[in-house]
Formats: sequence, C-alpha cells, structure tokens
Amino acid sequence: MNTDKNRVFKPEKLFAPRNFKCPQIKPNQYLEIGTGKGMHAMQFAQENPDKNLIAIERTRVKFDVFAARTAELELNNLLPVHADAIPWVVHGIAPSSLDGIFLLYPNPEPKNASQRWLNMPFFEFLLSRLKPLSPLVLATNIQEYADEAEEQAKQLWGLNVERVNVPQDSARTHFEVKYLARGETCHQLNMVKPKEYRTHFDDWVAPNNTQS
Ligand SMILES: C[S@@+](CC[C@H](N)C(=O)[O-])C[C@H]1O[C@@H](n2cnc3c(N)ncnc32)[C@H](O)[C@@H]1O
Repeated sequence: MNTDKNRVFKPEKLFAPRNFKCPQIKPNQYLEIGTGKGMHAMQFAQENPDKNLIAIERTRVKFDVFAARTAELELNNLLPVHADAIPWVVHGIAPSSLDGIFLLYPNPEPKNASQRWLNMPFFEFLLSRLKPLSPLVLATNIQEYADEAEEQAKQLWGLNVERVNVPQDSARTHFEVKYLARGETCHQLNMVKPKEYRTHFDDWVAPNNTQS
C-alpha cells in the first residue's frame, strides 16, 4: 500500500490527448472511467435523463463497440470519449465540476500496485474535480483490491466510505455480470468527498480549458 504523500501529481507535465476537444460540462455531470463496452454508461444515461455522463475508455476495440451502440441509442446526455482518462481529465475538467465518478471493475494491476487508482498521485487530482459531498463509486471482484482501496480512501485520502456487497442480481457491466454468474462476491466502495476537502489542485485549470 502506498502512503507516500510526497508523490504529488504534476498535471502541468501532461500533454492534452491527440485531437483533444474541451468538453462542455453540464449540470448534474457524472464521469465514468474505464467504461469498457459502455453497458453501465448507456443504462445510466437511459435511466437518468436529468443527469449527464462522460464515459471514457482507452481500449480502441471496446470503445468502438460502445460508440456505435451509443450512436444507435441517440442519447444526448452521454458523451463517449476514447482516451487515456488521466490526461483527458487533466485537460478536460475544471475543479469541483463533477457530481459523481464511477470506477467499475478497474484493471486489478496485480503486478503493479502503484497503478491502482487509489494508489496513484492522480487520485488527488481526480478528487479535486469532484464537487464536495459528491460520490465516487468503485466496484471490484477482488477482495484484496477492495480492502486496500478502502484503507487508502480512509487513511490516505480522508474520504467517508461505505462498503457494501453488490447484489447478486445486479447487472451494470459486462465484468459484473461475468463475476456474479460465477458466484463471486463483488465489493463496492461508496466514497464521498467531505465538505471542506482541500487538494493541491483546487485552483489548477489546464491552459486550454474553456470551462472557466
Ligand atoms: C476490467 S475492464 C472493466 C470494464 C467495464 N467497466 C466493465 O466492468 O465491464 C477495465 C477497463 O478500464 C479501461 N481503462 C484502464 N485504464 C484506463 C484509463 N487510464 N483510461 C481509460 N480507460 C482505462 C481498460 O481499457 C478496460 O476496458
């Protein structure tokens, strides 16, 4: 587990992704990172017409499936983005603009603990983009991942955390469906950014960001 608070993230070192277009941040704006083929993103957008979702996927093949399905559904509250979420969030999102974040079944990174979301210095930047009292939801089928993330959320990042088991009949993502069908337990952390939370990035806006 990483408890090295000296490894502060350096957003100014990251170039904007190729062909980057600064998004319009809408009211009730949510973000999903690692959306895969977009099952949760499309369900969320359909079930919550009053909410807006940006859903980012890095892998081209998965993104293409997601983008094609989204186009068929003509959802005007869902923006599919093909990018690495780290530079994209740095350049695309101003501080305190998100009403919620989803990290559903992230890659477990078994050989590279420092690449797990809550172990990365980028996580502090991500928190700076969340509005106070807004949720960040993480789900995983790996108990050790959930244990570590829960510890990090509380001890390193000072978040309020509720931990629950995902109901057996839940079907939000392709990975969730697969794990629950195998009889595995899926763990969910419902984290909340406290009201007076401060990060190093609360005033940091990318030079090409047109939102503020
Ligand atoms: C295990 S899959 C889960 C996909 C989907 N959330 C699900 O549950 O079915 C994790 C996904 O996160 C994507 N991913 C990992 N790191 C990413 C990053 N930095 N930016 C965007 N996507 C990323 C991977 O390409 C992969 O599709």
